[in-house]
Amino acid sequence: MASVTSLAATVNQRVADALSAALPEAGAADPLLRRSDRADFQANGLLALAKKLGGNPRELAGKVVDAIGADGLLKDVEVSGPGFLNITVADTAITGTLAARAADDRLGVPYADAPGTTIIDYAQPNVAKEMHVGHLRSAVIGDALRNMLDFTGEKTIGRHHIGDWGTQFGMLIQYLIENPDQLAPAADTDGEQAMSNLNRVYKASRAVFDSDEEFKERARKRVVALQSGDQQTLDLWQRFVDESKIYFYSVFEKLDMEIRDEEIVGESAYNDMMAETARMLEESGVAVRSEGALVVFFDDIKGKDDKPVPLIVQKADGGFGYAASDLSAIRNRVFDLRATTLLYVVDVRQSLHFRMVFETARRAGWLNDEVKAHNMGYGTVLGADGKPFKTRAGETVRLEDLLDEAVQRAAEVVREKAQDLTEDEIQERAAQVGIGAVKYADLSTSPSRDYKFDLDQMVSLNGDTSVYLQYAYARIQSILRKAGATEPAAHPELELAPAERALGLHLDAFGDTVAEAAAEYAPHKLAAYLYQLASLYTTFYDQCPVLKADTPQQVENRLFLCDLTARTLHRGMALLGIRTPERL
Ligand code: ARG
Repeated sequence: MASVTSLAATVNQRVADALSAALPEAGAADPLLRRSDRADFQANGLLALAKKLGGNPRELAGKVVDAIGADGLLKDVEVSGPGFLNITVADTAITGTLAARAADDRLGVPYADAPGTTIIDYAQPNVAKEMHVGHLRSAVIGDALRNMLDFTGEKTIGRHHIGDWGTQFGMLIQYLIENPDQLAPAADTDGEQAMSNLNRVYKASRAVFDSDEEFKERARKRVVALQSGDQQTLDLWQRFVDESKIYFYSVFEKLDMEIRDEEIVGESAYNDMMAETARMLEESGVAVRSEGALVVFFDDIKGKDDKPVPLIVQKADGGFGYAASDLSAIRNRVFDLRATTLLYVVDVRQSLHFRMVFETARRAGWLNDEVKAHNMGYGTVLGADGKPFKTRAGETVRLEDLLDEAVQRAAEVVREKAQDLTEDEIQERAAQVGIGAVKYADLSTSPSRDYKFDLDQMVSLNGDTSVYLQYAYARIQSILRKAGATEPAAHPELELAPAERALGLHLDAFGDTVAEAAAEYAPHKLAAYLYQLASLYTTFYDQCPVLKADTPQQVENRLFLCDLTARTLHRGMALLGIRTPERL
């Protein structure tokens, strides 16, 4: 349970101390330590400092080198180029630090300095509608961020702000009243049936709605009945929600993702707060009446004709919409759930909505320096043609079909490689590989960017894919099994080969990487780290015989590196929500 300071941080501190000893006038200057190809680390900070103090950077660097002195940590420090410091750490320091990481369940990953409570709004599909790839992104990114935040000691509470309210329910419910057997509750409905029932009702009711004026009017009245809490109407509304949840759960299960019922708190949950939210905003002058509606204006948000675009808190007909539910949710999350951060994982195309909602909440005093709100707006999933991902017929792609196809493709890959797996085992691995591939492709690009959905690339064994990482993990497990090694010990007295040093230094950076990726909401940084880890492991494995190493100590030390690599891969992938099968 002890966090381990990385060598990068320790060395940086050492250089910083030497710097202020040699050059007291420099104050607390950052040596700007980076990993480097020439040595283990390079410090570039002296160049800027020499400019500031007006000295010769190489001379200045020389003084710092003298002040660093020698001990067990550093093997070599030298001035290079215009005034860089090239720093090589001692082999024993590398292995020693790794041994400390290996002794810790958390691999030495530090807890955040001041953890708080983050409400994370993610995986928010809409009732009576199919889920699409946009919902996939929110679920996958949200789940990874949540794992990462939890791991660094943040308390997280999930909120699935599902679209379960609004005028379309008037149409659906009215149709059900007039065609009562259309959504008969059946105990054994599966997700697919549930969705096809909902689709059928949706299409049928839409057809009547569009062609029959009198039905349209009855549907409108039904909306009023729903909003005023009429029991029969609410019961029927609940049927739509329940049927939809069967479908949602089936998709999330396919995605290998745990969704808790008490965290499904959709738009409707804030219905009772909305009138009060509106009153508070009106009374404080944050919102004003305009053409009968209650709205909030912003100086810097204008439409094409330069007219201000307002946020509509309450429509002229008295109805509340998406904004009112989000504003009410903020009050609930801040004052009842005591959040310190509100994190929204929502399509970047809704970023204007959130800008307006957050600014309104700030003006109302609900958000302030103690409570921050952030929309982790994600980009669009594109098809091979670079346009938003659609079927050939131009329809949105059904999420389940896409996941099923990924698993199928993965099964082909697994089957080709599998020597001794039964068909059941192949299917189990295929699910882990296929779903992992979809998640990893999403998480390995920066969330704000668009990415192409390309299954061939995703399940490829070569390149930056989850399969490559899963294979690296499985290969290590097979070596450890062969060696009969459980918890192999480190041997800090041994000299390290270049590939061992490179792997070791990267393993040591795991804690810093997780901390940074969590603090910046950047799962792609963790993904990039893991990919590099697997690549460095491959080089190590090519260059350094493990079981046939020269001495028994060297065999064990290399097994130790294998084991720590596997544990780091496993932990890192788990944070991304991806499985690492023991055999592939
Ligand atoms: N259900 C919405 C959609 O599918 C996303 C909800 C996002 N969360 C929120 N608090 N508005 O577009």
